[in-house]
Amino acid sequence: MRVLSGIQPTGRFHWGNYFGAIQQYIALQNNEQAFYFIANLHALTTVRDPALLQEYVWEAAVDLLALGLDPDQASLFVQSDVPEISELTWLLMTVTQMHLLEKCHAYKDKKAKGIAADAGLFTYPVLMAADIILYDSDVVPVGNDQVQHIEVTRDVAQRFNHLYETEVFVLPNASVLDQTAKVPGTDGEKMSKSYNNTIEIFLPEKKLKKKINSIKTDSKAVEDPKDPESCPVYALYRLFADEQHQQELAERYRAGGMGYGEAKKQVLDAALEYFGEAREKRLQLEADPDYVRDVLKAGAKAAREKGRTVLERARDACGLKQFA
Ligand code: TYM
Repeated sequence: MRVLSGIQPTGRFHWGNYFGAIQQYIALQNNEQAFYFIANLHALTTVRDPALLQEYVWEAAVDLLALGLDPDQASLFVQSDVPEISELTWLLMTVTQMHLLEKCHAYKDKKAKGIAADAGLFTYPVLMAADIILYDSDVVPVGNDQVQHIEVTRDVAQRFNHLYETEVFVLPNASVLDQTAKVPGTDGEKMSKSYNNTIEIFLPEKKLKKKINSIKTDSKAVEDPKDPESCPVYALYRLFADEQHQQELAERYRAGGMGYGEAKKQVLDAALEYFGEAREKRLQLEADPDYVRDVLKAGAKAAREKGRTVLERARDACGLKQFA
């Protein structure tokens, strides 16, 4: 089974990215082949500052390695280091029906808000389809918000196969975790950079504490019984705690006598413990940029090797004979 996923370097990674996607990358990395990449071509649709984009790409690589991505098992690379992507995107563009793209959330939401969308945003799902198809990917670990894009990918791949009467492309499936398909943010809505409700994984402890303290709660007094199920603090605690600890906290909510401040402290302690090892690993990686560069180089080499064979199949299928 071939696994692939991508993540945008549009800022530092947050708990939603980790529990929805990154933890799956790591759990699935020991498959036949695993490709994970930093989607800087996609990020061009939002980050217009070149120095900042480079910085985000670098931090993304260090974060992923610190969180447990193992280059001996999986290939980690930067999207723009595989130029084959752009050519496959064009081939797919010629078979992608407009209506498929018109119904995609990112474009629809922007349009609904009256914001002018550029062609990059509109055709974003085609680039994503190319990302997936280029490596014969079977499984794509993602959070819920990307499932629609994987359905588009299947439609596009299927249409290409159908039009050229060959099974040239593999149809991928999304892998989504039930419990963490849509991790809530500090306001209870989906955690997302665009909602300004994220908690970044590697925030320094003081800032992390401040962020956790900003999680929205109702105004119940300490002694009042509280409802864990509707509380964003509890929802975030669940990310880190096993069944027994979750139940213990839920009981304390219902019994009354515990304030939200105390529940937040539990979230902070749990998060620090959970990501403690990754924080240490991150410090080591920061001190060894050559290692990180070598990982990205080797990753791109492996990705291109596979990608070239699939692109070649696609070119043959649609009649792009090479003359030079
Ligand atoms: P991106 O960069 O927005 O998010 C990266 C991954 O994190 C997941 N995620 C979440 N999961 C659960 N709860 C949340 N609150 C949450 N927020 C983010 C996302 O679902 C995603 O899996 N278009 C993609 C990047 C991409 C890609 C690809 C993914 C480009 N090419 C090919 C897979 C395959 C994106 O913007 O993800």
